[in-house]
Amino acid sequence: MKIFLDTADIEEIRAAARWGVLDGVTTNPTLFAKAGGGSYESILAEVCTITPGPVSAEVVAEDVDGMLIQGRAFAKIAPNIVVKIPMSEAGLEAIARLRAEKIPTNCTLVFSTNQGLLAAKAGAVLISPFVGRLDDINEDGMTVVRELAEIFAIHEIKSEVLAASMRGPLHVTQAALAGAHIATVPFKVLRQMVHHPLTDSGIAQFRADWDKAQRTHGGS
Ligand code: E4P
Repeated sequence: MKIFLDTADIEEIRAAARWGVLDGVTTNPTLFAKAGGGSYESILAEVCTITPGPVSAEVVAEDVDGMLIQGRAFAKIAPNIVVKIPMSEAGLEAIARLRAEKIPTNCTLVFSTNQGLLAAKAGAVLISPFVGRLDDINEDGMTVVRELAEIFAIHEIKSEVLAASMRGPLHVTQAALAGAHIATVPFKVLRQMVHHPLTDSGIAQFRADWDKAQRTHGGS
């Protein structure tokens, strides 16, 4: 399963790239508002220099023409831009039109399996079910991920299931087991995946024992 970083924070993206675990990036207007530091376009351009993987740029227009204008403009930023379009009637039409122009899209705000199926049919290359937001309203968000992954496998649909709205490391494991092709995670969750208390205490213990050995038997 590929790991994308769900952020517009350049330093976080650089860190994940340095760790060798970054397969792509997803952004949205909320993440851009949090990150600040330049226009959305300039941030996207910089992100695209850090990762060769897909970088999702989200439209805010709600009508087809507006989505197409924004989508085409994002696509000109770099070849690895994927235009993120919300699930709606206008969104499906924009996805189909952009597909005809060979501009890849990520259908976002997917909350049901049928929505994901339609988005794939319209031609979105990435389908983003929001796991955490479904869990928040007492629904099992991972079910949508699992059902979409199974349906895409059964029917040989090429779109990829991108598990989004990941709230913790357990979500990432569950998404991988459910067959998600990609999970997009906030930097905090990526860090939680790196660490384990026994790893951290083990490193400290080995260091302390090493230092003690230097004092008692000398040597390097
Ligand atoms: C990513 O593509 C989504 O926009 C993001 O995962 C949403 O996460 P949230 O539900 O934590 O806002």
